[in-house]
Amino acid sequence: TEPGASRPKRVLLARPRGYCAGVDRAVVTVEKALEQYGAPVYVRKQIVHNKHVVATLQARGAVFVDETDEVPEGAVVVFSAHGVSPAVHEQARARDLRVIDATCPLVTKVHKEAGRFAADGYEILLVGHRGHEEVEGTQGEAPDAIQVVDSAADVDAVQVRDPERVVWLSQTTLSVDETLTTVDLLRKRFPLLTSPPSDDICYATQNRQEVVKQIAGDCDLVLVVGSRNSSNSVRLVEVALDAGARTSHLVDDAGEIDPSWLDGVSTVGVTSGASVPEDLVQGVLGWLAGRGFGDVEEFTAATETLTFSLPKELRRDLRPAR
Ligand code: F3S
Repeated sequence: TEPGASRPKRVLLARPRGYCAGVDRAVVTVEKALEQYGAPVYVRKQIVHNKHVVATLQARGAVFVDETDEVPEGAVVVFSAHGVSPAVHEQARARDLRVIDATCPLVTKVHKEAGRFAADGYEILLVGHRGHEEVEGTQGEAPDAIQVVDSAADVDAVQVRDPERVVWLSQTTLSVDETLTTVDLLRKRFPLLTSPPSDDICYATQNRQEVVKQIAGDCDLVLVVGSRNSSNSVRLVEVALDAGARTSHLVDDAGEIDPSWLDGVSTVGVTSGASVPEDLVQGVLGWLAGRGFGDVEEFTAATETLTFSLPKELRRDLRPAR
């Protein structure tokens, strides 16, 4: 018989999961902009890295573009939660676009740190994924002073002018443990390496990883709801495996679950990335309930209360009733 066959079937549901304050703000920004200005509202890049969110907003009249030069002169454009480099703001100004900047305030915080350290003559080692929008945006704050360190494997190749004036910063959605390993290696090479003034990996990323770490050891399978291009969602699969889950898969929705993953499984962990609407998680729970996994226990590792006000350019235009 299968190893899990005689054990009771149950779901451990991670909390916190899903939307963080920055994603919620970015999605509401596009919704309110559509109400206020009418369609089309242009959005540079995916507002958040979730295909369902993008499709829903598209259906309401949001037009997603890759670069500002695809936006008609004078039109409204929303910048995504991942942030943009100063050069992109410049291009938007040159085209007379009405910018609503939905960059997460916690990404803006890292941009400001980068600008300040660069102005003080530091070289910045930015731990993050090369090519990710957030990393490109942050790097644009000081292109000559910032080098991207994608992983521990990059550490040996780093060259700096003055090993006494080096600081590390990071992308907001990395694996906490992996980043610490990379920074330890950087510090071996540059003992005077300065650390960021406060955590760059954001509270939401840390909390979602922490709860997964706590439940993973009890899980035969951990399902992470999220899109493939969502950095924090992909990290949750890695964290689950590192923390002892037997298997873990990333799915955009219940339709992507392979029923064979349940073979021999008694405990299924469920969580979702910071860009994932809760109804997709509920869809996964419904799918599981239909296969005998109706017993759901929510496991809470932290309580989140942070919210961000909408971008000021939008608040200015909204009617007082809102
Ligand atoms: Fe911001 Fe962290 Fe969410 S940087 S967008 S709060 S994942």
